[in-house]
Amino acid sequence: MNQIVNGTRQLRGSLTLPPDKSISHRAAMFAAIAEGESVIHNYSDAADPQSTLVCLNQLGVPVEQQNGTVRISGVGRDGLQVPADDLDCGNSGTTMRLLSGILAGAGIKSRLIGDESLSSRTMQRIITPLTQMGASIKGQNGDYAPLEIDHSDKLRGIRYPLPIASAQLKSAVLLAGLFAEGDTEVIESVPSRDHTERLLQLPVENYGSSVIIKSNRSQHLPTQNYNVPGDFSAAAFWIAAGSIHPNAEILMKNVGLNPSRTAALKILQEMGADIEIEPGTGNAMEPMGDVIVRSSQLRAVKLDPALIPNCIDELPILMVAMCFAEGRSEISGAEELRHKETDRLAAMANVLRIAGEKFEEKTDGIIIQGTGSHQPGAGEFQSEHDHRIAMSAAVLAMMSVGKSEIINAEATAISYPNFWDDLKLLTG
Ligand code: S3P
Repeated sequence: MNQIVNGTRQLRGSLTLPPDKSISHRAAMFAAIAEGESVIHNYSDAADPQSTLVCLNQLGVPVEQQNGTVRISGVGRDGLQVPADDLDCGNSGTTMRLLSGILAGAGIKSRLIGDESLSSRTMQRIITPLTQMGASIKGQNGDYAPLEIDHSDKLRGIRYPLPIASAQLKSAVLLAGLFAEGDTEVIESVPSRDHTERLLQLPVENYGSSVIIKSNRSQHLPTQNYNVPGDFSAAAFWIAAGSIHPNAEILMKNVGLNPSRTAALKILQEMGADIEIEPGTGNAMEPMGDVIVRSSQLRAVKLDPALIPNCIDELPILMVAMCFAEGRSEISGAEELRHKETDRLAAMANVLRIAGEKFEEKTDGIIIQGTGSHQPGAGEFQSEHDHRIAMSAAVLAMMSVGKSEIINAEATAISYPNFWDDLKLLTG
């Protein structure tokens, strides 16, 4: 499906965002290996978290879903069953990587498959530590899906300094550690999102600028009963759009505000964005609150590379915001963007080029010469089947005067099924 997006005169209104994708995945997986019933309110109906539910069901975990509430009857650490068929993770890296940690830990013979994009993303980063722990896990051509996991003897805990700042990798190792003999310690020197630690209540120790997170077989696995907050990564598209559009005021309620996710807020505020935050009561696990964004004039910014893991999914939309800031902005240390659902540096370079923006693509980032408030060129933008590229291109298209087309716009359903409806709602 292609989507026409016209330049818009206003972005005004209030939105209910899709439930957080990262938290939805984790709540479901952790509920599955806990003992007893979990009730997860506001579970995401986006394609990725739904892939996780289907896989859990294939592993013998009873899952009931009704009006955004998911009930999972946890089978306990030793209750997962060998699936009759391949486990299809679709487009979801989080499903494949986290589930691999659990299945390798539990020694469940299984085969994890994914779509074309997921099958071209390296899985070596999880294969290496899981193999060190004694798991039998193999990819195709070395390190790509399909991943084949075989039964293995009980895993051994490891001490693993993360070679890449990745919450998916961190979580895969910690989850395998829940099944292993001895302690598993993951050492993280650049902090990534910490939903796994929070939801499983894992011990975390600070050592100077590093943290050590531990898991082992005797870790209690809590059932998961709570409300999933709105997805900050979805909110980021509107926070950026509201900041750069000259006639905007957008209210978003119950947005997840976990500090390991919200670097984009800090960055946009540093750029001069007018963002108001009303902290909510949230839940014990994850902070949330309301966010209001209004039109502003942005200044250029040089991103601190240490913040990259805390805004990794927001970098494409930050690039759009940078085009509307006065002066030269720079993102570096973001090579990981090349290993997402698509090569997001290359994909965004194509989008910015079509809009006539001034930039220079680097191997690990981008330099953008922002021209302040302006109307970019309308055009035909390729989403490359990547949800975040489709939404970033849409925001750019809203700022133009003419009519643009987003190619393969259905990709938004991966994380934000109502994106195009919300766009209509705000444009009046
Ligand atoms: C995610 C972690 C991030 C992020 C992805 C979701 C998660 O990936 O890009 O969309 O839920 O753990 P990495 O941890 O690999 O950077």
